[in-house]
Amino acid sequence: MNRIEAIYSLINEKDKVVDVGCDQAKLSLMLARRNQRSIASDISEKVINKAASNIESPLIDLRVSNGLDKIKDGEADTLVLSGMGTHTIIKILENTKLRFNKIITISNNYHNILRSKMNDLNYKVSKEQIIKENNKYYNLIVFENGNMNYSESEIELGLNHLDEKMYKEYLDFLLNKYNNIKKSSKDKNNKIDILINLINEKRNQL
Ligand SMILES: C[S@@+](CC[C@H](N)C(=O)[O-])C[C@H]1O[C@@H](n2cnc3c(N)ncnc32)[C@H](O)[C@@H]1O
Repeated sequence: MNRIEAIYSLINEKDKVVDVGCDQAKLSLMLARRNQRSIASDISEKVINKAASNIESPLIDLRVSNGLDKIKDGEADTLVLSGMGTHTIIKILENTKLRFNKIITISNNYHNILRSKMNDLNYKVSKEQIIKENNKYYNLIVFENGNMNYSESEIELGLNHLDEKMYKEYLDFLLNKYNNIKKSSKDKNNKIDILINLINEKRNQL
């Protein structure tokens, strides 16, 4: 399963979807194939024009929009933010009054900050999934309304992972990465030691 297929599998047929940062609107094309309407938006006019020239489906509403600026209240209850950094994702959500029942993110970085800042915005983690595409790991997170008291391990490594086998593989990858950083650095780095301990603890629980 690739990233877009993983997002697609988490969307119900009744969900009113907006995919922000849609690029070539691959998710909307998959949804349209099962007769589901969606909004696909991107900040780049060039990107939207290119998508429009390849897409004929009346079920796909393409829009040029910075974040959620061009989305009106009631148009969507499910938000997809994939292929962007955590700071962009948070900025988009801080700049809107819209609320969503479900937000599916695949951030490129800082998943710990994403979980924590989303909690401040009153969105808590419902489930997570690690996806491997072209030999790279991606951390998909589904958020729902509410907030939570996360443990340090949950903030750093996530919770409620759907694919346990892939999650274990990802933890092994992280452990290897942090051990290599530790070996190559002369200075003591407490954060790396904490992460290594958290990963080992988690690995033993699975
Ligand atoms: C790497 S692509 C990801 C495409 C697709 N969502 C995916 O996951 O494969 C990131 C897209 O986000 C768009 N983007 C970046 N910042 C944005 C913003 N503030 N609002 C809307 N789109 C944005 C970019 O123009 C680009 O098309």
